[in-house]
Amino acid sequence: MSAPRPIRIAPSILSADFADFGREIRAIEDQGADWVHVDVMDGHFVPNITFGPPAVAAFRPHVKTVMDVHLMIAPVDPYIEAFARAGADIITAHVEAGPHIHRTLQAIRAAGARPGVALNPGTPAAAVADVLDLVDLVLVMSVNPGFGGQKFIDVTDKIRAVRALIGDRPVHVEVDGGVTPETAPQVARAGADVLVAGSAVFRGGSADDPAPYGTNIRAIRQAAEFATGQAV
Ligand code: DX5
Ligand code: ZN
Repeated sequence: MSAPRPIRIAPSILSADFADFGREIRAIEDQGADWVHVDVMDGHFVPNITFGPPAVAAFRPHVKTVMDVHLMIAPVDPYIEAFARAGADIITAHVEAGPHIHRTLQAIRAAGARPGVALNPGTPAAAVADVLDLVDLVLVMSVNPGFGGQKFIDVTDKIRAVRALIGDRPVHVEVDGGVTPETAPQVARAGADVLVAGSAVFRGGSADDPAPYGTNIRAIRQAAEFATGQAV
């Protein structure tokens, strides 16, 4: 049994104050966020619209950790260069977003970002089996993408299957959607090491009163670490 992987918490700014992203990003990082998860939505691949490369470029100076950009867009390829230039550290594309995911992931790496591949709840783990040598991360969605605050879909078996396919490759398994201190243990035990959380991090706090952000981040992290024997 390999040593458990350190747990990373990646708050999603989809649940932040859209009128105050700079302060919100600084607040969650000051309160313990390991990554900043940026949900890009196009109103076509998912039934919501958020922001594009100019907004991501505006976020960049405020992010001191890792800007983890989740592209819920189709097509992806025409926008890779723009998001890489905007400063995305990780660019994750959905395997469902087009017919050429292998080429898309090669293009993300060629543009200078770290590639990730995402799976919707209805897509089996096998869909990413042939691109695991091209990615630094597999994102397993535990909600149908488009909105924060949705109910967790139990994708624990899929997380386990993805972790098994990854084997000893240095690839993160990120889980995204409905992650809370209650659901974090099962996803961490199944092999997830990066936990995205929006509503469960931002609830009860604000950029003026960020302490609840820290309390919420610690609660999720400790639940996951306890479940994987990394905390007593
Ligand atoms: C949904 C996004 C998620 C979402 C998570 O399409 O990809 O990152 O913001 O929000 P919560 O944690 O509230 O489910
Ligand atoms: Zn996301």
